[in-house]
Amino acid sequence: MKSKIEELQKQLGDIKIETVEQLEVFRQEYLSKKGKIQALFADFKNVPKEEKPEVGQLVNVLKNNAQNLYNDLKVNMGNSSSKEEKKLDLTRPVEFSHIGARHPISMVRKEIIDIFNRIGFVISEGPEVEDDFHIFTALNFPKEHPARDMQDTFFIEKDPDVALRTHTSSVQARVMESQKPPIRTISPGRVFRNEAISARAHCIFHQVEGLYVDKNVSFADLKQTLLYFAKEMFGEETKIRLRPSYFPFTEPSAEVDVSCNICGGKGCNVCKYTGWLEILGCGMVDPNVLTNCGIDSDEYTGFAFGMGVERIAMLKYQVKDLRYFFENDKRFLDQFTGAY
Ligand code: DAH
Repeated sequence: MKSKIEELQKQLGDIKIETVEQLEVFRQEYLSKKGKIQALFADFKNVPKEEKPEVGQLVNVLKNNAQNLYNDLKVNMGNSSSKEEKKLDLTRPVEFSHIGARHPISMVRKEIIDIFNRIGFVISEGPEVEDDFHIFTALNFPKEHPARDMQDTFFIEKDPDVALRTHTSSVQARVMESQKPPIRTISPGRVFRNEAISARAHCIFHQVEGLYVDKNVSFADLKQTLLYFAKEMFGEETKIRLRPSYFPFTEPSAEVDVSCNICGGKGCNVCKYTGWLEILGCGMVDPNVLTNCGIDSDEYTGFAFGMGVERIAMLKYQVKDLRYFFENDKRFLDQFTGAY
């Protein structure tokens, strides 16, 4: 047995293999189930017990050598000589590698920004950790207004003057303080509210605020701007409707509905059979707010609006539960690949 192993070791050393065919012959002769090395394993039972450890080791070394030789030759041939084997198969289906996509909230935020950019609104940003003045006082919130309540607002380290902004309207105040009209700006950003998380509410979400201040800005300008936005966002056939509402920082104030883009206004379960979907709040900037921010309210008027990005995304893509946007389940996110 030992001499057979030695003999085969020697053969491995002398062997000359130049073609793929020769390599295959080698594989069959030495490494296949019916090959010479396998035959040694079969003979192994006849080896006297005391020699088994030594002989077993020699057979294993032989087998590894043969296998390594085969592997090396195969790699080399694959790289160079065997052009025949390596021919490209141009009919083979393409393997697409998976590429990431924008998050649906980023997509919708970008779409909102693009729509307003096209009519001259520029982006402004403000801090997420904000003071009471810019979140509430400048915006005409009375001292006892419930939105200032500990229940709704996250305060920073028990200082009642510093909080996480509850809306992006705070950026309005900052812009008006530091710029002179004409002002035409939108402010996208994250906002924070102490809300229980549910299918319709979250403690962190995104808003886009809009502000236009100039001489003779009218409610008609506001309505036309929002109609343009609704058509761009939800389709040319979209209609809007304004309902009277109340916000401390606008007078008059309104809530805006768009005609349901699912049923075309006929009524369905998405619009709860009303034909309308609420998308944002708006109004004419209250003269007190202009004054608080250093703008002459006798000379200038303005309109403002604010919308939730998650809400617009839910309506646009018919997402029934807001929490999907935060869970980052790949099966959900994959549905938006290539959507923008
Ligand atoms: N800040 C309001 C909110 O968070 C949204 C809003 C309503 C913004 C009316 C406005 C506006 O600028 O005019 O619910």
